[in-house]
Amino acid sequence: MKMFVCGMCGHIEFGEAPEKCPVCGAPKKAFTEDANALKQPADPKNLTEGDKKHIPVITVNKQCSLVPGCTDVHIKIGEILHVMEAKHWIMWIDVYQDYKWVARYQMAADKINPVVSAHLKSGTGKVTAIENCNVHGKWLAEVQL
Ligand SMILES: [Fe+2]
Repeated sequence: MKMFVCGMCGHIEFGEAPEKCPVCGAPKKAFTEDANALKQPADPKNLTEGDKKHIPVITVNKQCSLVPGCTDVHIKIGEILHVMEAKHWIMWIDVYQDYKWVARYQMAADKINPVVSAHLKSGTGKVTAIENCNVHGKWLAEVQL
């Protein structure tokens, strides 16, 4: 699927550029198609320590303790927890359902662990998480609900 990157906030849209960025409001002309917007492990069957620190780990819990009927999606960066330090941190995590953006979680460099929970109203479809490391770029993970 084609990817379009917002030149203002780095948000990725799938399929086509939107009329305006759903995250920062930048106009359509701010988007650039970029097939290489995401980092990928060199060998998916043999992940390096660097890969394991960046690929999101998604856990689904269909029994939300806060909202009846809600589906919890926990996203942790990554299998080896990524550092959150002034010079190197996970700036944000974008969450999508069926390739439509549903949330951005923006994080301070040194105040919080790189873990978020999305509370989805619908418990069906595909969830995609993209994290943005300020040093190592954007990494994706997906899960079918
Ligand atoms: Fe990193």
